Amino acid sequence: SFFRDPQAFEVLLQKGLPSLVEGKQDGATLRVWVAGCSTGEEAYSLAILIREYLTLQKLRLAVQVFASDLDSRAIEIARAGIYPIGIAGDISPERLQRFFTKEDSNYRVKKEIRDLVVFAQHNILTDAPFTKLDLVSCRNLLIYLEAKAQQKILPLFHYALKPKGILLLGSSETIGGFENLFAPIDRKWKLFRRTAEPSTLPHLHRFHGESMKAANETRADSAVPRPSIPDLIHQVLVARYAPASVVVNARGEVVYIHGRTGTYLEPAPGPPTHHLVEMAREGLQHDLASALHQAASREDEVVHRDVQVKSDRGLIAVTVRVKRISEPEALQGLFLVTFDTVREEKPAAGKGAAARSSAPLKKGESGLMRELEFTKQRLQRTVEELQTSNEELKSTNEELQSTNEELQSTNEELETAKEELQSLNEELLTVNAELQGKLDALAEANDDLQNLLNSTEVATIFLDNELCIKRFTSEAKRVSNLIASDAGRPLSDIVSKLTDDRLLDDAQSVLQTLIIQEREIQALDGSWFFMRILPYRTAKNTIDGLVLTFLDITKIKEAERVVQAARTIAASFVETVREPLLLLDDQLRVVRANQSFYRTFQLTPRDVEQQLLYHLCGGAWNIPDLRRQLEEVLPKCTSFKDFILDKTFPQIGRKIMALNGHRLEQAVGQPGRILLAMEEVKAGGKAAEKAKE
Ligand SMILES: C[S@@+](CC[C@H](N)C(=O)[O-])C[C@H]1O[C@@H](n2cnc3c(N)ncnc32)[C@H](O)[C@@H]1O
Repeated sequence: SFFRDPQAFEVLLQKGLPSLVEGKQDGATLRVWVAGCSTGEEAYSLAILIREYLTLQKLRLAVQVFASDLDSRAIEIARAGIYPIGIAGDISPERLQRFFTKEDSNYRVKKEIRDLVVFAQHNILTDAPFTKLDLVSCRNLLIYLEAKAQQKILPLFHYALKPKGILLLGSSETIGGFENLFAPIDRKWKLFRRTAEPSTLPHLHRFHGESMKAANETRADSAVPRPSIPDLIHQVLVARYAPASVVVNARGEVVYIHGRTGTYLEPAPGPPTHHLVEMAREGLQHDLASALHQAASREDEVVHRDVQVKSDRGLIAVTVRVKRISEPEALQGLFLVTFDTVREEKPAAGKGAAARSSAPLKKGESGLMRELEFTKQRLQRTVEELQTSNEELKSTNEELQSTNEELQSTNEELETAKEELQSLNEELLTVNAELQGKLDALAEANDDLQNLLNSTEVATIFLDNELCIKRFTSEAKRVSNLIASDAGRPLSDIVSKLTDDRLLDDAQSVLQTLIIQEREIQALDGSWFFMRILPYRTAKNTIDGLVLTFLDITKIKEAERVVQAARTIAASFVETVREPLLLLDDQLRVVRANQSFYRTFQLTPRDVEQQLLYHLCGGAWNIPDLRRQLEEVLPKCTSFKDFILDKTFPQIGRKIMALNGHRLEQAVGQPGRILLAMEEVKAGGKAAEKAKE
């Protein structure tokens, strides 16, 4: 109803409108959206309230009220602006007088108010909202919606309103949960002011209006080849068993004639015409024109019976049927007119125009009268048509205005989206630059690693969990026939250059047990490698394949062989020397003795090797002087010569021996060794003399 909850309108007038007009320049527009306007009463009430207020305040502001509703029939009523007399109960006599015109038993909204409001069919949940609004009134709509939809609409209003814009809800509705978006002006009458909280438009299902869809469909339609019109018309006629029939377009022009229509139609005098009504025989024109007119606004068939037509055979009674063709699609918009002669009549018994023509008028006058009558009716029809098309134009205009608003709001949304995309793009560029930096660093690290691997000259092969080759160093070509394109191939497919074929088994075993395998392995070209197979552990400590390394130890092997040979030679030297020799370690423990020693002292290797020198031969070698000399050999790098030992040994009796001690050079880090050589002293010799002393 008009001014529903009058106090709410009073509160809006007192507490809302003053702030909305504040600071507005002359000529500026006050924009209002009435969402869910139903049949228009609320929208007109607001328009009246604002118009009165502006007049009172002498403000020269334009007002635009967008009123929308989902229900197209409600919108049609709202657009008409005609209300029953009962509205007088809701509107004061002064307002009724000033803003309404009484028409029969209705009140019509005056143009002054009607022109302020644009009505549009609009779904608040899916269509783009109106924007830059000073006031949104959405009363008694939210209560019909589910909570989820309500949650969507309130941010939408926040988005649609200008800063400090006002929201008016129904008395039983709330802004539940959106206190940050709207601050109350009047809690009881649900008047709120938009807060400065940043706004985002909630997602709408549909961006563009139906008009776009319709335009596309029309374009698509025009691409479809149409069947030939005569064929289609024929189909329709046959289906109807039509007798004499014609098909006309919306302007009444004949597009097809079927059967013998001469009884009803004749060429009209003057320039040739296709207009059906002009071709109709006397008596038929009026009914035909009116039937065509009626059919234009109806779906069902229009039938005029007993039409008195003056034919060549005399007066006949005809049934005229006019039907709008709805199928096939290509014929839509055309009308099928059929004529049926019911009976032949006496001129006096008829009715209608022909009957009227039988009035006592002179022949020429009656013709003129008929023409006048016919012209009058056509004029009347034209006037009615003009009125209808005027109404339609008005509605179309309103629709266009509202579509324009929607497009503007969509445009704004796109602008916002564009800005967001731009900033996102900038962020992406930054991230991209960072990523590029990281990629460069990674590439550098990769190069470093590759160079390092190549410089170590260690053949390295990386396998995945399926034992397929992930990558390898150039040295790896020495142990198998690898080429660059082998990455990704199974290791088993690659021909090995090694002398043993256990490599694959070893790899599988390491993958299963995760126990590192190491061994020396020889290549077919004779070189030696120290092979190591270990699991490939990722940073997250998961196993992602294997690493196989082959360290070239050919030179070490060679050196070992040389050392071994030297050892053998040294050993044979030691064995061939006649004097007894002892090799002692840094603890003065016997490492080895030669055959001469064993012979001389009648001992076996078991008695001697690994024994402390002082324990040999029942302690016969435990001589403090000798001990001191020996203990100095290694730390002081000294040697001694001709230390005379005169002792009685358990098995062999007394022996006089000259002892020489020498330090033997060892490899770096190895403890030193002492070679103790003994020479038996003959009795009476110089040495024996010295021994006596
Ligand atoms: C109870 S009427 C309110 C009429 C008016 N606002 C008032 O307070 O007197 C609710 C209106 O909301 C409309 N409506 C319901 N859902 C809608 C939607 N999604 N979009 C637009 N209008 C809707 C209905 O068609 C109905 O006309």
